[in-house]
This record gives sequence, structure tokens and C-alpha cells, in this order.
Amino acid sequence: MKKINFLYLFLCLCICTSLGLAAFFLFESFKYEASFNGNAPIPKYDFHFVLIGQEKDNPYHRKIFEGAEAAAKERNIFIEYVGPRQTNVEEHIKLIEMATAAKVDGILTQGLTNREFKPAIDNAINRGVPVITFDTDLEDSKRISYIGTDNYEAGYKIGEALIEDTNGQAVVGIITGLLYSNNLVLRVQGFLDAVEKAPNIKVVAIESSNISKSQAAEKAHQMLRKYPEITAFFGTSALDGAGIAQAINKINPITPILVYAFDDLKETLELIKEDKIHATVKQNQYEMGYKGVSMLYKVVTGGQIPKTYHTTTKILRKKDIRLIDHE
Ligand code: BGC
Repeated sequence: MKKINFLYLFLCLCICTSLGLAAFFLFESFKYEASFNGNAPIPKYDFHFVLIGQEKDNPYHRKIFEGAEAAAKERNIFIEYVGPRQTNVEEHIKLIEMATAAKVDGILTQGLTNREFKPAIDNAINRGVPVITFDTDLEDSKRISYIGTDNYEAGYKIGEALIEDTNGQAVVGIITGLLYSNNLVLRVQGFLDAVEKAPNIKVVAIESSNISKSQAAEKAHQMLRKYPEITAFFGTSALDGAGIAQAINKINPITPILVYAFDDLKETLELIKEDKIHATVKQNQYEMGYKGVSMLYKVVTGGQIPKTYHTTTKILRKKDIRLIDHE
């Protein structure tokens, strides 16, 4: 009798352990979908792409997603949009790794830094997940293609605009989103190379805003206190121009300071209308998203795409904004 009881107990234990193990593995296999998709059921789709933005709620990145979503809808692609709340290389890399581990059909990401992003991108490619970089390229990686602004050229263009507007006479402060991000390094380099042609343009300082408007305002304020002779600013990423304008407003200098910005966020355009920002480089975020998804689709359906696809940029001044208003 005792023997039978023991056998029962042993059998029950075996069944419970097997059920437990089965539940654990089932949970593990669904974990990725749950964490990437906020537990929502994934709709029926032909392909599953992941778009990783540097800051998920940054209006610049939201516009890229708008374009990506439109292209995805036309092709029955499920596009998942993820990204850190605030720029964070570690989190960004983790998202690339998660998408790779889940074997999604394609990844769109920026290639912000060589050291951290190259291994993550190369690993995705080695494991059969195609990667296209957008906005910020990483040419040294195995990424299939890059879609976005020619960042060096864009920086160069704004430098030339400054020379033209000031007759080659200016003392400049630069507020750059990040000192290490590949696209912004290229913008600053392009700008410096352009103004080198004008011996009376002097760049006195370069500081980082951590792509935040409030930090851009703080850094510009400190810069103006240290270098009251500044007559122009160059803000290299989407929120820098508005931050710089805020700092100038606070100091209220006697002679106007020219602000050169990046991107066409609503606030930037308003500030141009109010003469608080002098000019901005309009990038084509929507196209980066739209074309990015279309190109990835071509890759997964066996088509060929170019190694680099540069989207257009345009310098906007007050007169151009009036034209946009009337469109
Ligand atoms: C840059 C992006 C950046 C964004 C930050 C844009 O100008 O192209 O790389 O994430 O600004 O606001």
C-alpha cells in the first residue's frame, strides 16, 4: 500500500514538473511579442518590420513613423515602432538585439555610434535579419542600405548660408544634439569646413544638448555668458534651435543674434516667422520612413536596392515659410 502511495506521489510530481516546464517555455516563446507589442495581438500580416527611433515620442521621429506606417499599410506589413523615451544608446542596442532574437523580417534603425551599433547591426545581418539604417548611417557596418540626409552636405549648406547672410563676419556658438552621434558629427564637420573659407568667421564653442530643448537653452545661456561677443548660433538637431532661441530671449541682447537650426518642427517654423530663428535645414523625415519600409520590402521579396539613398534637404527662411503657409 505504502509503495502504491509513493508511486502516486512520484507520478503527480512528474506531471506537475512537466506542466510547469511546458508553461515556462510557452511563456518564453511569447515574451518577445508581448514586450514589443504591449501585449496587443499581432494582426495578420505578410511581413513584420521593426522601426527603432532614437526617441520614440520626439516629433521628428514620429514623422518618420508616419511615413513608415503609410508604406506598411500599402503592403500588408506589420510595422512595430519602438524606441527609448529619451536618447539612450544601451536601450537602443537592446531593442535591436530583441528584434534580432525574435527573427523579425527586417529592422530600420539609426547607426548612431560605431562601437555600440556596428556589432548589433552586424549580428542581425549574420542571423539573417536585414537592416537598413535611416537618418544616421553606419557605413562600416553590414547594413544593407542607408536612407536619409547627406549629413555632411547639410551642415556645409548651412555654413554657406551663414557666410552669405553675414558677409563672412560672425562669432559662432554651436549647440549640437550629441557630440558622438555620427550624423551630428558630420553636420558639424560640414559646417566647419564651409566657414573655414571665411577668415572672419570664428567658432568659439561647441556644446552638447543631449537632443533636449531645455538643455540646449541651458548650454546656449552659459555660452552667451562666457562669450558675449557671439553673433550667431548653429543648432544641429531638431530641438536645439528652439532651445537656443529661448536662451537668447532671456538674455535679450542689444544686437540681434542669428540662429541657424535643423528641421521643420512646428515650433521652429513659428520661431522663424517671429524672427527668432533665422533659417533651418528641412529634412525629409516622412520620406525616410516611407522609402525605408519600401526598400526593406524590396529586400525581403528578393529585389535590389541602392547602398545609399539620400533624401532631399532644403534651407528654409521666413519667405519660404510664408509660401508653405499658402500651400
Ligand atoms: C536628427 C535626429 C535626431 C533629432 C533629435 C534630428 O535633426 O536628424 O538624428 O534624433 O534631430 O531631435
